[in-house]
Amino acid sequence: MICLGIETSCDDTGIALVEDGILKDSLLASQEEVHAIFGGVVPELASREHYRFLPALYDRLMARNHADLAAVDLIAVARGPGLLGSLLVGVAFAKGLVLASRARLIGVDHLRAHLLACALEQQIMWPALGLLVSGGHTRIYLATSPYDFQLLGRSLDDAAGEAFDKTGKLLGLAYPAGRAMDVLAQAGECRHELPRATLSEDSLNFSFSGLKAACARLIAEKSLGDCAQRHERLDEVRDFCASLNEAVAQTLRIKLERALKQHPEVHSILLAGGVAANSLVRKKIAALADSHCLQFATPTPALCQDNGAMIAFAGYLASLENLRHGLDLEAIPRGRAVPQDYVCQWESSKG
Ligand code: KG4
Ligand code: ZN
Repeated sequence: MICLGIETSCDDTGIALVEDGILKDSLLASQEEVHAIFGGVVPELASREHYRFLPALYDRLMARNHADLAAVDLIAVARGPGLLGSLLVGVAFAKGLVLASRARLIGVDHLRAHLLACALEQQIMWPALGLLVSGGHTRIYLATSPYDFQLLGRSLDDAAGEAFDKTGKLLGLAYPAGRAMDVLAQAGECRHELPRATLSEDSLNFSFSGLKAACARLIAEKSLGDCAQRHERLDEVRDFCASLNEAVAQTLRIKLERALKQHPEVHSILLAGGVAANSLVRKKIAALADSHCLQFATPTPALCQDNGAMIAFAGYLASLENLRHGLDLEAIPRGRAVPQDYVCQWESSKG
């Protein structure tokens, strides 16, 4: 079973080949430089860049693997949530490949795919609690299997990644700032008590807007604005970043600990999404899993960010259940729940 996966939901163009559940190869084209000058993703530019990159990436991936479209069984594509224009580029390309071949089409939920990437590299013990932390989403799921995800909590305002990106921008760091702030944090010390929004006592929802505002106030108060860019007062910048790392990682840990209390039946904790690459987040969540004698699974940092491999793998898993989509597959923008509107393979003919 050969599955080609396509990811274009935000500002990374990803493509990958998975054969019988094993990652064969993947390619990623980042648009970071295009958006960095604007301090955030510009949707119109993101769609154009996907449109420019995707055919070339496809040709390169197929050529260097001596792969033939006729031998591909499945085309999996991220169908949402994401930027609609960006998603449409990937979905339309996937439909084109399906029309030109005998491959089946699978629309993949981008958020679930992030968490399923944990299973690419190790066998998962289900049921699991899945913590997804990215630039646009912070969510906790209860997953009883790769196919059954129940949403337990989500960000009510900003996602954790946004707290890093927006705060980093004030310090003069290029978008997305999370990785650079994490590097600075590792050489600093947590000296500032920043808010950890835990909401009502048993809530599993998140709110990072208060943290973002507190960071902006502190940067203004200490006149740290643009200091990272000018390479000035770097010790203070490092301590500030360490304090932000601590506040985010601690908040995530508190929520996950609550979720564990409510769901003692789980055997593992999955951690995924761009912010899952954060050194302290990984350490704290791993320690939490360890203290509860649970399996801890998180993708290698390269597979935490958006990528085609997670989409191809999620598509492969869906195909094991004989799930597929028709050519009427819809792209789902941010804010709308991704429907589980698969059709069974034997229920309909191609298209
Ligand atoms: O999952 P992802 O690649 O894209 C979305 O679906 O949003 O996540 C991107 C986010 C950005 O906010 C970026 O700043 C953040 O992940 N990020 C990090 C780190 N690496 C990436 N945040 C904190 N620490 C990191 N090491
Ligand atoms: Zn993502």
